[in-house]
Amino acid sequence: MMTTAVAPTFPSRTHAILESLKQSGQLKHLQTIEGPMDATVKLKDYGEVACFCSNNYLGLANHPAVVQAGIDGLKKYGAGTASVRFICGTFDCHHTLESTIAKFYGVDAAYTFTSCWNANEAIFPTLCEPGDIIISDELNHASIIDGIRLAVSIKKGLLRGVYKNGDVAALEAKLAEARANPAVTGTIWVVTDGVFSMEGSLADLPKIRAACDKFGALLVVDDSHGTGVMGHTGRGTHEHWNMAATKVDYFTGTLGKALGGGAGGYIAGSREAMDLLVQRGRPTLFSNALPCTIACSAQKAIEILMQEPQRVAKLRDNVAAARAGIREAGFEVLQSPTAICPIIVHDTAKAIAMSKRLLELGVFVIGFGYPVVPEGHARLRVQISAAHEAKHIRALVDGLKTLKKEF
Ligand SMILES: Cc1ncc(COP(=O)(O)O)c(C=O)c1O
Repeated sequence: MMTTAVAPTFPSRTHAILESLKQSGQLKHLQTIEGPMDATVKLKDYGEVACFCSNNYLGLANHPAVVQAGIDGLKKYGAGTASVRFICGTFDCHHTLESTIAKFYGVDAAYTFTSCWNANEAIFPTLCEPGDIIISDELNHASIIDGIRLAVSIKKGLLRGVYKNGDVAALEAKLAEARANPAVTGTIWVVTDGVFSMEGSLADLPKIRAACDKFGALLVVDDSHGTGVMGHTGRGTHEHWNMAATKVDYFTGTLGKALGGGAGGYIAGSREAMDLLVQRGRPTLFSNALPCTIACSAQKAIEILMQEPQRVAKLRDNVAAARAGIREAGFEVLQSPTAICPIIVHDTAKAIAMSKRLLELGVFVIGFGYPVVPEGHARLRVQISAAHEAKHIRALVDGLKTLKKEF
């Protein structure tokens, strides 16, 4: 008599996965913060620790004027939009914020979403069509990867290609292949992060632009980690390279990092592309608008950034001091001007154990392992803020010196 194998039930399978993560030391623990995000945070079980793992690059998350703008927005507009944008969820603060974002970049128009994840899930499925191809850097953010997956799965005949991280020759080869492909009858899109979120490295935008021009491709840059950080006035990675913003066809970005840190994302570029996103973008049509409180805080954060470029200069100085300190502590770190300083330790369990030890030493740095980074590439990701003072950077370096001895 034949016996059929009994499939593991969902609860036992879930339990087994969690148990195996626990056994291998890879289980993530959500730390709980009991106060505002700043240079230091009050952490449940650890007390006040220097925070080196937030995206609060300009220290605006707890800036009094940014907080007040949110309070004022709450009072003026109430607690919720209670609608998607095209029904009755468009408030005047959305228009104000979108024209400020467009002005900040010096492009025609911008359109906001509740996250940059949403923006990346909107741009490709909405703007790309069958016969187009999207060529993407292999280390692009997960939201770009998923946005492209979504686009190719709902638009049959839309193609995709991937090139080796930062390798412009590999990109050119993909572009040449795409041009020679009879199935590519429409637009060629190239998409890259401006600053790679796990490496802290920069995309060479002038070279990528030149490759796009050679093959007639459009360029999309997700500058979530570059906006407010790179370039003299914090305009982003293109400014770092002295490149006009108009050389980038579309920007995507987040309001959840340097620009106040609340939440929200945007796409910036041509007016008609924004109009098409209003008409056809599924996150636009089927998901609520950005909350007004957040829109008002983000608006204030961008105004502060535009008025106070010295914040960007302070961040730049802090980044240089932190990188020098990390090396002084005996760790390798990539030479880069970005605020992301990864210390590669390879093993996920080791990264998590080192992060835990740093917390005991009063320094909050997260260890990243698989699946956030590829297997064998685990790291401590140190992130620098303009909110940090010399004493915080000293605490980081002292903590790292202790780790060097103990691990
Ligand atoms: C490059 C990049 N794009 C998009 C996102 C998603 O941003 P949000 O938190 O606004 O969804 C992130 C967030 O980590 C990111 O690093």
